[in-house]
Amino acid sequence: METVVSGIRSTGNLHLGNYFGALTNFSRMQYENKCYFFIADYHSLTTHPTPSDLHGHVRQVISEYLACGLDPEAATIYIQSDLNEVAELYLLLNMIAYVGELERTTTFKEKVRLQPDNVNAGLLTYPVLMAADIIIHKASKVPVGKDQEPHLEMTRKFARRFNNMYNVNYFPEPEAYNFGRSLVKVPGLDGTGKMGKTEGNGIFLVDDEKTIRKKVMAAVTDSGPVEQNQEMSEPIKNLFTIMEFVSDPSVIDYFREKYNSCEIRYGELKKQLAHDLNLFIEPIREKIYAISSDDEYLRKVVKTGAEKARESAVKTLGEVRELIGFKPF
Ligand code: TRP
Repeated sequence: METVVSGIRSTGNLHLGNYFGALTNFSRMQYENKCYFFIADYHSLTTHPTPSDLHGHVRQVISEYLACGLDPEAATIYIQSDLNEVAELYLLLNMIAYVGELERTTTFKEKVRLQPDNVNAGLLTYPVLMAADIIIHKASKVPVGKDQEPHLEMTRKFARRFNNMYNVNYFPEPEAYNFGRSLVKVPGLDGTGKMGKTEGNGIFLVDDEKTIRKKVMAAVTDSGPVEQNQEMSEPIKNLFTIMEFVSDPSVIDYFREKYNSCEIRYGELKKQLAHDLNLFIEPIREKIYAISSDDEYLRKVVKTGAEKARESAVKTLGEVRELIGFKPF
């Protein structure tokens, strides 16, 4: 049983790739470990959202995760900004984080390139806040993708440095959680690569039937097979791969045979795929809407989550303050 922490960005809707990638793993993990999942709304301030957007985004994201199977009875689900202790640990960790190493972080350099007009100090200390998120619960495992590895490396560095500075073995050095098997990848509709948020090639869990149909009908294909059993091009392979996530095996066999005998009509395949995608997404979509309009339920989840998370955060902060040398008069 490991202590697991993961932060969820509070921007952007979940797509089918997130569902079969992260979500199915989170759901499994929460019954096998002590999991803390939180919405990283402090982190979202590094890109300056407007006050009118902030709350709605948090609400949407938490509703989507709950609809996809995050279980507030099993995992501790909370909002980052509900834990003052996170901000306090962030302050304390900032004293042992060096400007030079923060400036050298690859993710920071990337941000400077992407938003040169808004290189705020929060962006520079993003890894410090993320380290605070993780070590506040003394987590040993962090289920994140490869893009977050530099941040995890920094977290280990800060934990180690704190331990050395106060001559203790207090914080564990957390590692990435790889679920013991390779991640499932759902391809996008644009013919190349995997489904992503920014690529514009995805099916979102909130997409309605019409939107799904429109997106699928516009998916990239090729000019069709010209000889029997011809190898599939990447766009066609990808459509079949998506089908494997949502369609009945007999349906897939039908279209595979049609392809192999050069009788396939991509329009027919797309219509079927759109239909199956909608059938799959419909109950999730409805659950998202039901949860996001259930104020009472959300309030309860968030409140219980904050209480549970605070318990472990308060304990850590008390011990950290003592190690640093703060004493009551
Ligand atoms: N930086 C992470 C991301 O962009 C989000 C995050 C914030 C996080 N704090 C965290 C992830 C702590 C894991 C643990 O996806």
